[in-house]
Amino acid sequence: MAEIIKISGLSKSFERDGQRLDVLNDITLGIEEGQIVSIIGGSGCGKSTLLRILAGLDTGYAGQALFEGRAIAGPTRKIGFIFQDHRLLPWLTVEENMRFSLPEGEPDKDGVIKKYIDLVGLKGFEKSYPKQLSGGMAQRVAVARALANRPDTLLLDEPFGALDAITKIHLQEELLSIWNRDPVTMVLVTHDIDEAIYLGHRVVVMTPRPGRIKKIHDVELGRPKSRTSSSFVKIREVIYKEFFAETDLPFAYTI
Ligand SMILES: Nc1ncnc2c1ncn2[C@@H]1O[C@H](COP(=O)(O)OP(=O)(O)O)[C@@H](O)[C@H]1O
Ligand SMILES: [Mg+2]
Repeated sequence: MAEIIKISGLSKSFERDGQRLDVLNDITLGIEEGQIVSIIGGSGCGKSTLLRILAGLDTGYAGQALFEGRAIAGPTRKIGFIFQDHRLLPWLTVEENMRFSLPEGEPDKDGVIKKYIDLVGLKGFEKSYPKQLSGGMAQRVAVARALANRPDTLLLDEPFGALDAITKIHLQEELLSIWNRDPVTMVLVTHDIDEAIYLGHRVVVMTPRPGRIKKIHDVELGRPKSRTSSSFVKIREVIYKEFFAETDLPFAYTI
């Protein structure tokens, strides 16, 4: 399958207090169309910076970042973004939030809004305001809003990181069932190792200071995956070890 995103030799540094801070170092990664690629790594290893570059929000870097064969030069509707916080406008209803983010030229705004609200299971909440929704429901609206723009690729930056464990599992299942119907390419940043393995076709493990790719795992578990199968547990153990090798914690205390 064709690589929709191609990152090669990507490095990024920031200037802080007159000093250079190397945040990403020599990142090379190809992402195939329709794949879900999970990226895990500790806090500060440059995951959000990498997604911002892919979203076209940051163009000051060395190396290459290509989307559909062209250098990413700025934000495009072909690439959607979902953040940890829902970023809904508090003074607009669910429906109005959706409408606000649709392009001017969308010929059937009502139909599109209805379709995606239904898809994330929020029928009946069209007229609700964000403060009337639970965290999980608000995040569902964020997913619907991103998908309504029919992106080719979805970038997700710890999208379920603020949710409780049960709600998180529900949303993971919903995301997968949406993907099963319409396999949009996803780049999912998370620090939840189980989530990374469960959702990803591949799991990229990053190490900090500066952020580098330590390992890329192909998750060959077939689908649907079982979160408790021995093959799942096996890959989980390998990734845990890699992940915690970067911290000062004794490994025995971390699982
Ligand atoms: N605009 C910026 N200016 C200076 N430093 C930044 C900026 N954005 C991020 N950083 C620094 O880059 C490093 C990586 O940040 P980030 O990409 O947010 O990491 P992660 O998402 O993996 O936690 C951090 O040390 C952070 O402080
Ligand atoms: Mg981050």
